[in-house]
Amino acid sequence: MKWHFIGVVMAITGIVLLVQLLPLASYLQQVERDRLTTSLERDAFILAGRSEEALESGVGADALGEAAHEYRETSGARVVVVDRDGRAIVTSDDDQSSLGGDYSTRPEIADALGGSVATGSRDSETLSTSLLYVAVPVISADSVVGAVRLTYPSAVIDETVRGRLGVIGSVALITLLISGLAAFVFSASVTRRLTALTASSERLADGDLSARADPMLGAPEIRTLARSFNRMAERVSTLIEQQRSFASDASHQLRTPLTALRLRLERARELMANDPEAAADRIAAAEAETDRLVAIVEGLLALGRAERRDDLVITVDLAAIARDHVEQWRPLCAELGVDLRVAVPAQPAIPVRAIPGAVEQIVDNLVDNALEVSPPGSTLEVRVDGGANPTLRVRDDGPGLSDDEIARAFDRFWRGRSATPGGTGLGLAIVQELASSSGARVRLGRRAERGLDATVEFRRAQP
Ligand SMILES: Nc1ncnc2c1ncn2[C@@H]1O[C@H](COP(=O)(O)OP(=O)(O)OP(=O)(O)O)[C@@H](O)[C@H]1O
Ligand SMILES: [Mg+2]
Repeated sequence: MKWHFIGVVMAITGIVLLVQLLPLASYLQQVERDRLTTSLERDAFILAGRSEEALESGVGADALGEAAHEYRETSGARVVVVDRDGRAIVTSDDDQSSLGGDYSTRPEIADALGGSVATGSRDSETLSTSLLYVAVPVISADSVVGAVRLTYPSAVIDETVRGRLGVIGSVALITLLISGLAAFVFSASVTRRLTALTASSERLADGDLSARADPMLGAPEIRTLARSFNRMAERVSTLIEQQRSFASDASHQLRTPLTALRLRLERARELMANDPEAAADRIAAAEAETDRLVAIVEGLLALGRAERRDDLVITVDLAAIARDHVEQWRPLCAELGVDLRVAVPAQPAIPVRAIPGAVEQIVDNLVDNALEVSPPGSTLEVRVDGGANPTLRVRDDGPGLSDDEIARAFDRFWRGRSATPGGTGLGLAIVQELASSSGARVRLGRRAERGLDATVEFRRAQP
């Protein structure tokens, strides 16, 4: 992937450079040609001015010849000065054989002798190369007395252009290399982070639930990926942890009641023929055992379901739920001779954050526990207070719990001295799980004289 990426970056850079360089080359050629033509034209006029006298009177032809020579040395252009008949009177050549030669057949000389300036390029038959030429008339007293022609091999222009293109080409090459290097550095850093992320996910796949990615390294996208990987890993390990504890709790806690159940049923079968009454007792006990088994399984399932998921949390009215729900306990309280006191403000509503059904189950479990230990004639109080952190309190006049017992009360399956038969020891564990899923806190406290004070502090919902 790394080399592929570098290849793509370099190919794109190369194409961009090429697209820019091709028109640049022809543009450079044009510019160079124009520049040369202009300077040749200027020089040709200067030479034409100096040729005037030599052409009219023949005086100073030698000096003109020297000037032409010098000009060729410095500029590389060939100089030919012709008289009005097109015969060369001065050339810049070392060998003077072309002196007196007839140039009137050359189109540019013919144009210049006709009084106009001729510029352009053409193939020379004598030199068999392409030539750039400028021919200007030499005018004296309104009549053309001759012409000056400067020629320049086109190859020189090509060479200059090639030289410049060479420089630009090297710059392009360096640009290409730099882009390749940048792509290498960038892709190396990206692939390094991705490799680390892959290693973490492979560790997780191999069963290492503690595998996490570093969410502080790399580009923002990679950090986001690392964070969502960590969230996924967190969730997967929580789910697996829940499954594991469900399986181990279930197998541990169900084995004893199931054995007891089996023994009771066996005994009932034995007694069936001789002592049907005793057999019926065993069967009733077996039924009670079955109820307990059902309660345990339901409790474990409730714990397994109470996942920590923020998206499940909703806003509910703590006051309304507590008020309505507590009323369902009133008949049982009356039957047991327990005075149920409810102190919940009628208005206004107390909006809190909780997962659906959590408040109801918390009220049920706490009232159930309190009622379990409340002696006849005692008081059971349920209170709701508003404020920044609304609270639900359930207080009883029972035997209460010691500090050590309070520390263990939320453990799964823990049951205290005062526990009555039939309980599972899961009620408070469920309360705690529901509360923490809802972002609430549960506390058990000893009351001054006697009894227990269970408090749940909720998060108030923002309007
Ligand atoms: N209000 C209370 N006063 C005294 N002890 C309590 C009170 N509430 C709970 N406990 C003690 O804490 C133990 C654990 O309570 P928890 O609700 O988890 O289980 P449980 O009530 O025994 O079983 P279940 O809730 O399934 O009926 C109880 O067995 C009891 O001994
Ligand atoms: Mg309970």
